[in-house]
This record gives sequence, structure tokens and C-alpha cells, in this order.
Amino acid sequence: MIIFYCFLKSWFFINSDAENLKVMAELWLRYVNFEEREKRLIPFIEEVLREHECRKVLDAAAGIGFEAYALSMDGFEVIANEYNPELRKVMREFLRKRVNVEITGFNWKDFDKHFDKESFDAVLCLGNSLTYLINEDERKKVVSNFYNILRDGGVLLIDTREYFSNGLPKEKLMGSFYYNDEDFSVLLKSKKGPYRYVLYDEITGKKYEEEVYPITREELKKLLEEVGFSIVIEYSDLEEGVRKDAVFYQFVAMK
Ligand SMILES: C[S@@+](CC[C@H](N)C(=O)[O-])C[C@H]1O[C@@H](n2cnc3c(N)ncnc32)[C@H](O)[C@@H]1O
Repeated sequence: MIIFYCFLKSWFFINSDAENLKVMAELWLRYVNFEEREKRLIPFIEEVLREHECRKVLDAAAGIGFEAYALSMDGFEVIANEYNPELRKVMREFLRKRVNVEITGFNWKDFDKHFDKESFDAVLCLGNSLTYLINEDERKKVVSNFYNILRDGGVLLIDTREYFSNGLPKEKLMGSFYYNDEDFSVLLKSKKGPYRYVLYDEITGKKYEEEVYPITREELKKLLEEVGFSIVIEYSDLEEGVRKDAVFYQFVAMK
């Protein structure tokens, strides 16, 4: 009886996780602001890549694949890694119609098993992706993996979202050019943690929810330096320097 109950319980959780990943993939297609990313994010990324003579790029959290598509169109050799199998399916379809990009589906924690050391000129980890790692040791392991697969002089482009305002979680997480906010409510649930990120679709009523760790700008910078990046340049919504009212902070970390 107990075994049967455990089986049912685990089946339910596996199933509801799978459903959550599916909803995420579905919402992401509408949530990502392609136009603004094309106008602002892509020129920013490409300027950094050209400045550091990067040709071979790994998008470690490729999502829907928009950045992989745009960079590949502009002549970069891109590998698009997406760990969520549902999002990977959507990405595969999105890219298949447009460009020929290699697709992988690895967990960042296993990058050392799948990619050779120093095999990329650049690694991208954008869209506040590192927030999905709750544990500090895991974050360190993952950022070290990014570091190790970069060649000397290569760059990691990574960002984090500002979840707090005056020390408290923001009421709603809105106002980034990365996303189409209008039809969604985005929240960070809980005041002190564990924290849950909630993306609620006001049109369809569907909801994607995941535990996150709201890594701050200072914590991310410290982590990049600890792992060994020699120069770390900070940007606030793509402008160099630190601006308190920014929604996203980007880092260009050089090996
Ligand atoms: C918020 S999405 C961002 C996607 C995309 N970069 C964007 O800006 O739209 C977070 C991404 O992190 C990825 N991710 C989270 N944990 C991961 C892990 N342990 N290994 C690999 N990818 C992971 C997810 O699969 C997802 O693509």
C-alpha cells in the first residue's frame, strides 16, 4: 500500500513538473519581446563578441532560440543549448525554419562532461537564467564550468534581474524590454525565501511557477571574480556602469 502511494505521489509530481515545463515553453513564445531584443540586445551582444574576436558561441540557456538565430544570421557559429525539453522542442521548430544551428540539451552542471575545455570563444547565459540554481555550491560549479569551456581571452555574457526595491521584493516584475509584459503578471512570491517566480498569463489563465534564488548584482559579480574571471564589466539595462533603477544587470566577464 505504502509503495503504491509513493508510486502515485512520485508519478503525480513528475507529471506536474512536466506540465509546468510545457506551460513555460508555451508562455515563453509570447513573453519574449523579439522586436526589442533585435533592436537592443543583439547589437549589444554582437559588439561585445566582435570586440573580443569571438566566432564560436555557446548560448547556454537558449530559450526560444532568438539570440541563437540572430547571431547565426550575422555569421557567428552558434550552439544553442536548452535544457527544458519542451522549450527545446519549440526552439528546434523556430530554428529549423530559419537557420542551421546545432542544438544540445545539457544541464549546465554537466557541461564539463560534454564540452572540451577552452572550446568556445564566448558563452551566453542571459534572461536571468542563473536564478534557477538555488544552491550556492551549484552556482559556483556551473559558473566554473562556463569558465573552463572558454578559451583564454574568451567572454561570458551573463545577467541578473533586480527582484528587489528598497530591500523588499517588488510588487510585480515588469518593465524590461526583454519581455512583452502587457498580458502577463510576473511575481516573486515570499518575502524571505524560499522564493518562487510566477509567470501568469492574464489572457489564458495559465501559470508557470518555479523556485528561484534571487541572486543580486553584487553576489553575481563576486561569484564571477571568485571563479577566476580577470575583468568583469557591469552594465545596467545595457548601459555601462551601475544604475540603481535598472531592471536587468548584464556582465561581460573576460577569462
Ligand atoms: C528564464 S529562461 C531564459 C531563456 C532565454 N535565455 C531568454 O532570455 O529568454 C531560463 C533558462 O535557464 C535554463 N536552465 C535552468 N536551469 C538549468 C540547468 N541546470 N541547466 C541548463 N539550463 C538551465 C532553462 O532551461 C531556460 O532556458
